[in-house]
Order: sequence, then structure tokens, then C-alpha cells
Amino acid sequence: MKKRTHTCGELTAANNGKRVVLHGWVASRRDLGGLIFLGLRDRYGITQVVINPKEANPEVVKAAEAVRYEFILEVGGVVNKRPAGQANPKMATGEIEVMVDVLRVMSQSRTPPFLVEDEVDASEELRLKYRYLDLRRPRMQRILALRHKAAQVVRSYLSGQGFLEIETPMLTRSSPEGARDYLVPSRIRPGHFYALPQSPQIFKQLLMVAGFDRYFQIVKCFRDEDLRADRQPEFTQVDIEASFIDREKLFEIMDGLFAALFRDVLGIKLKLPLERISFENAMSMYGSDKPDRRIPWTLCDLTDVFRRSEFGVFAKAVGQGGVVKGLNVGPIEVSRKELDGLDGMAKSVGAKGLAWVRVTAEGLSGPISKHIKDEERKALLGACAAGEGDLVLMVADRRDIAEESLGGIRLHLGRKSGLVDESKWDLFWMTDFPLLEWSGEEHRHMAVHHPFTAPHAQDVDLLESEPGRVRSQAYDIIVNGFEIGGGSIRIHQRPLQERVFRAIGIGEAEAKEKFGFLLEALDYGAPPHGGIALGFDRLIMLLAGGNSIRDVIAFPKTTSATDLMAEAPSAVSKAQLKELGLTLKK
Ligand code: AMO
Ligand code: AMP
Repeated sequence: MKKRTHTCGELTAANNGKRVVLHGWVASRRDLGGLIFLGLRDRYGITQVVINPKEANPEVVKAAEAVRYEFILEVGGVVNKRPAGQANPKMATGEIEVMVDVLRVMSQSRTPPFLVEDEVDASEELRLKYRYLDLRRPRMQRILALRHKAAQVVRSYLSGQGFLEIETPMLTRSSPEGARDYLVPSRIRPGHFYALPQSPQIFKQLLMVAGFDRYFQIVKCFRDEDLRADRQPEFTQVDIEASFIDREKLFEIMDGLFAALFRDVLGIKLKLPLERISFENAMSMYGSDKPDRRIPWTLCDLTDVFRRSEFGVFAKAVGQGGVVKGLNVGPIEVSRKELDGLDGMAKSVGAKGLAWVRVTAEGLSGPISKHIKDEERKALLGACAAGEGDLVLMVADRRDIAEESLGGIRLHLGRKSGLVDESKWDLFWMTDFPLLEWSGEEHRHMAVHHPFTAPHAQDVDLLESEPGRVRSQAYDIIVNGFEIGGGSIRIHQRPLQERVFRAIGIGEAEAKEKFGFLLEALDYGAPPHGGIALGFDRLIMLLAGGNSIRDVIAFPKTTSATDLMAEAPSAVSKAQLKELGLTLKK
């Protein structure tokens, strides 16, 4: 092997006349007018190399003729500035080509199952099965380089702020994030299992009790939950915890981290401090706890307009303590069939229906327009800032149902109508989540975030009387409608922790069983502390301009949690099962 003088991404006209040696994969191959053109690819780019049968040695020509896609070549030759008009401005190396006089095949390839190029038309299944080929695509190489860059920025920024990177166990016990655990059977203690961590939550709090003061880790987390485009069974968090801080200080540190990431990865200057919106306001304005504010519509409140309406459906909902909420989607065209679909969407989150009116020159049109009196119409137009041509969708129901159903429709219609302003970045903090939510399934309140989240100081005394009204010191960071991270100020005192456990129906025995070591640690001098975890894969997905986290993970799993390349999960031998003391049911 000769020494590589350059990568396939760096030669320009400035190198004209220079002798070079390149190593790379054959990305393209054309025979043109007696000349053989090959595109040679490595992680840095693609360079066009040319074999001229009139000048090159016959051995070289013969070798070049036998070359196929994805062979790895060593080529030696002279850089030649392309004649005017033949440069390719789309390629970084488009000004030059290399006139080859030495060519050696370093490695052959079978015909690849798909062409390795950005406009790949293979199914995702095929790409995942041959992931090492898929990863050769320039786009994937760019994304993983961006991911590396972002990880470096995180490490350097947090180290600069005094955070220590400390590892926590992968073989541990159940953590409090609330998804299903991945379990690992113990060989030494048959019948006992480790759980893979859903997050390092308990350990990072223990590190605070241990006095480490500022901790971070870029760490794998494991959750057996329903998967979708932004969820993987194993994913990466930037996990952070700090002592002697309040929410303000944490936001300041995190704002700085986001500014560093956007600056160093994308060259974008963020305006700090990042905005904040309370959960209550976000629900009221956008009907979502992770709104994409790049869609230009907000919900309007029509409760007072229809309090005494003739339209029984609305008046009745208000009479029962509910609300009427509206969403003015402007003059967009929505067919009857689509309206039926939206009605179905609203019903799927518990609404009884979706009403709509279109504003016309004559008044209102739509099936319920006949029930709307003139002064109600005027008030409606005012409350929803609606004018001629606009379509207003309405739901009358319990507040959460009305808001959530219109929030879902807002996102769906906004995206579908191309009304998301893609030129904007929308980052903000969502604050003041409720501490607890009622679970109809379990007939008890559950922690919205996790049970170590501190309640708002002003709301602590509602814990026993009105648990549903207690606000928490939890926060999320939302980017372009994705929940990119979440965290909270924690409870650091045992009596309050026990009150919260009682409020969510976790008795002493259960608390001890699940989190005993953390509770005990609270008795030995636990500092006030708080933290956050960022979903690193989701963050990279957004920074890379993609819409699936599978694209930003080198070896991801499908939505049925399988690795198509390694064929995992897989059956194991009887001997392995026996060693673990396990038998499989037929
Ligand atoms: P939480 O459960 O909100 O908080 O997780 C933090 C962030 O991790 C990302 N995330 C995921 N990304 C990909 N696939 C998944 N299955 C997945 N699940 C979560 C999200 C989410 O915002 N211990 C707490 C943090 C804390 O309180 O400090 C925690 O894990 O972007
Ligand atoms: P009805 O008079 O019951 O046929 O309902 C007229 C329209 O109101 C239908 O399009 C229903 O989907 C819609 N609707 C029914 N209940 C509600 C509700 N709670 N909020 C909004 N629209 C509703």
C-alpha cells in the first residue's frame, strides 16, 4: 500500500499538476469516448479519476475495465484542472480530476444490494440489513460527523462549566421513568434480574449526595415502549445534574449549552435567554405540551360567546363546567371528507365532535351555522380574529379534551398545508407542569415527570387536598415541536418525598423496595439539587434537518425493536438458558 497523499474530498485547482495517491470506494463508473471515469469516494468526499487508454499502461487500463461499484482502489496520478465549462460546482472537488497512471484494487465487492448514493431508492429494511453500506452514503457520513461534533461541544462546554463526566451502571435495578424495563437475568443468582437503566436518574441524584456538585454523562438509556419515528428502545441522553442551584441557574447553564451547540454545529446565533411558556398557557394557546410554534395559528376561547347559546351541544358543555375552544385556520381549503377525518381525530382524543363554520360575505356557512345568532357570530369573529373566507373549527368539552383535540388538529393541518415556517428555529422552555395526573386505568394519581420532582413551594399544601392542582418544578425544552429534554428541581428532604409518595399511592414498603437506597441517602445530608436530560438523538435529528432518529444512530432498531443486520433479538442455546436457570414456556 502506498501512502495516501490526500483524501477524496480535498483536491482543488490549487493542486493542479501535483502527483497524488488516493484511496477510496468506487461510487460511479462511466466509459466515455474511450476514457474511463470513476468516482472515488471516502468519508471526506468524491473525486473524479480518469483512465485514458491512449496514455495509461495497458495493465492499468485492464484493471480499470474490471472495476465495479464499491471496489476499493488505490490510484496514483496527476491532478488536472478541468477545462473551463467542465467543472462541477456541486462537488467540492469539482474543479479537478486525477489522470491515473497507477491503479490497484485493494478490495473487491459483490454487487451491492442498492446503489450507495444520497438519492437511494431502497427500502429502509434493506438499508438497515446492509447498514454498513447505507452508512457509506455521504449524507449518513455527514450526520455522524455532526453527531460527533455536537458531542464534543457538549463535553467541552460542560467541562468548562465545572461539570464532571462520571459513568453510572448499565446493570442495575428498575429506575423511575415509568416505561417497561429491559431485564437481564443473573447467572450467579438464578431467578434474579438486573434492569437496564431507563435513565441514570437515581445514580445522578446519589452523585449529588456524594458531593460531586456538577455531573454529566452522554449515556445510553433503555426503554421497552411503543416505538415511533422519534423513539428508540435504546437511545442516548445528555444527562446533567447539579447541586445548590435553582431553576434559574439551571436554565442559564442550559441556555449557554444550546447557544454553544447552535453556534458551533450550525453557525446560528440563538437569542438568549430562551423564552419560557407555562404548561397552562401552552395548552390554552396551542393545545399541546410540545407545540410547534412555527405554525401561525393559536386557539381562541369561545366559552363566553356560547355560554347561553341556542346550540345545545355548546351551552350544555359550558353548563357542565367545560369550555368552547376555537381554531381559526384561515382561508385554507378543507374538503368535507377531510373535515370528517378531523372529526375522527378529535373523537380519538375523547371529544364528542368537531364543529366548524366558514366565514362568508353573507355570514357563516356550515351545518351548525343556523344555530349561531348574529351577536354570537360577531363575538366569534372577534375572539378568533376571523374574517371572510376563514374556517373556524370548534370543540366544546372539558378543557383538556377541547384543547388537546384542537392542538392535534392544529399540528396536522398546519403541517399538511405547508404552513410550518421552516426558516425559523423555535426553542423554548415549558415550565410549571402539573406535578400529578390522574390515571383512569390505575385509579390513582401518577407523577407526570417522576416521583422525585419537587412541587412548587406555593402549592405544597395542596398535596393532600387537591393533588391535581399542584404545580411542579419540572421543565421541558421544546425545539420545533419536539420534546428535546426534560428535568426538574428534585425533592431533597425525606418528609416531603414521603408526602409525594403518599399522594401517588406508593406506600412505605413499595417506596423502600423500589427506591430505598435513594431514600436512605436523603437522610445523610442531601444538598438541594436539580437537573435535566436531553434526548441526544432527537437533538441531532433536528440539527441535521431530518425527521427520523434512526437516521442519526449508526446501528438503530426498527419500530418492532429489531436489529435487522445483527438479527437481534435472537434465540439462545439450551445450555445458556440452563446456566441462567430459565426455562421457556411452549
Ligand atoms: P425523560 O424521560 O423526559 O427524562 O427523558 C429525557 C429526554 O430523553 C428523550 N427520550 C427519548 N429519545 C429517544 N427514544 C426514546 N425512547 C426516548 N425517551 C426519552 C426525550 C426526553 O425529553 N431522568 C429524567 C431526566 C431528569 O429528570 O433529569 C428523564 O429521563 O427527548
Ligand atoms: P349534532 O347537532 O349533534 O348533529 O351536531 C352538529 C355538529 O356538532 C356535528 O358536526 C358534530 O360533530 C358537532 N359536535 C357534536 N358535539 C360537539 C362538541 N362537544 N364540540 C364540538 N362539536 C360538536
